[in-house]
Amino acid sequence: MSKDEDFSFQPEALSRALSLLSEYAAEQASVVPEPPSFRLSEGLPAEGIGGIAALENLAGDFFPSAARLGHPGYFAHMDPPTPWFTWVGALWAASCNQNLLHTDTGKGARELEEKVVASLSSSFGMNGGHLVPGSTLANITALWAARELRGIRNVVVSDMAHLSIRKAASLLNLNLYEVPTNSQHQLQPEAVADVEMDETAVVLMAGTVAAGAIDPLDAFPEAAWRHVDAAWGGPLRLTRYAGLLDGVEAADSVSMSAHKWLFQPKDSAIVMFRRPDEAHDAISFGGGYLAVPNVGLLGSHGSTALPLAATLLAWGRQGIAARIEHCMQLAERLAARIDEEPALELFGSPVTGVVLWRPRNESPSAVRERMEGAFVSLTQIGGESWFRSVAANPQADPDRVVDSALSALRRGP
Ligand SMILES: Cc1ncc(COP(=O)(O)O)c(C=O)c1O
Repeated sequence: MSKDEDFSFQPEALSRALSLLSEYAAEQASVVPEPPSFRLSEGLPAEGIGGIAALENLAGDFFPSAARLGHPGYFAHMDPPTPWFTWVGALWAASCNQNLLHTDTGKGARELEEKVVASLSSSFGMNGGHLVPGSTLANITALWAARELRGIRNVVVSDMAHLSIRKAASLLNLNLYEVPTNSQHQLQPEAVADVEMDETAVVLMAGTVAAGAIDPLDAFPEAAWRHVDAAWGGPLRLTRYAGLLDGVEAADSVSMSAHKWLFQPKDSAIVMFRRPDEAHDAISFGGGYLAVPNVGLLGSHGSTALPLAATLLAWGRQGIAARIEHCMQLAERLAARIDEEPALELFGSPVTGVVLWRPRNESPSAVRERMEGAFVSLTQIGGESWFRSVAANPQADPDRVVDSALSALRRGP
């Protein structure tokens, strides 16, 4: 076969693909995505239509149906908009397609990941770790290391923890103890009874899924292993709110999702260890075709460190902190505005940029359906439904979101 140009650098095709993207990036008129109706027929097409035609075909449905995470009315989930240089980092990673499993196909990429991990883990008192595609995998990896190293048989966690802890306990065959929380959704250490701490991993939350609550991170010094799930709240450690996570440095392991408050494209998260060499050894497997043992849950995997490294360099600690601190202020402004509206109820002051609120006299889901120009997520607490507005979007406008809910209420069902 003669040279296949599809594997070469194609400036014109890439520039067309960029123009498809720029049409999307400029189009921020509506926060509500359109329903998709992909023209890709059922099954594998017998004949291809070529790269540009394929992208044009997909763009027509993919972009309009994508949630507008950077829209001023988007104050909803933990998913942020991403800065443009991370798009390029992801593109470079895809084009070189390095495999960090092997030193042959990922020497530079492996070294870059080590540097990225080292530069982040020190803020948590951790000494290394590795990147994983999400905190679900980070939590499972940490508890796996705990079981291998300390022989833990139990996991103690608050009843506000993320479902990934239940998944980890199930996969690792550990007994799960879900502990009641106080009115601020924090684990109550005194409610833990009859659990042998010398065979227990305690998981402490630094940002719960529903309310963004932080557990007392220095609790249970006697546990065989302490893991902090900082999937959401972890990046606060790089900001002037770092003190909210005091105690984290005494943990054995920490999880943090970079694709949440570090503004990374998915799939990007980090599992960090106080003693990474020992932890990595415990979860490594060698194989005949591998020059170095395979660490952790992933086999072949690519360079998610590249967009993250671009972000650390482009913004520096100050630039990252400024954006997260701005998000924290947006959450405070949103909470203050809700608090002064008689038709709305605020759950409590936001701790890590997560605001829970609802209309006083109508079901949140019905009002959400009628909201125009703004979008919030929903969560259940104690069987009751609440709006959840997570400050992951630095461009969100708190007044727009509240005004949209109030006008939906005024218009009525
Ligand atoms: C507290 C917490 N832990 C773990 C996770 C799982 O993270 P990921 O979605 O990155 O797998 C989440 C996700 O929302 C979370 O909020």
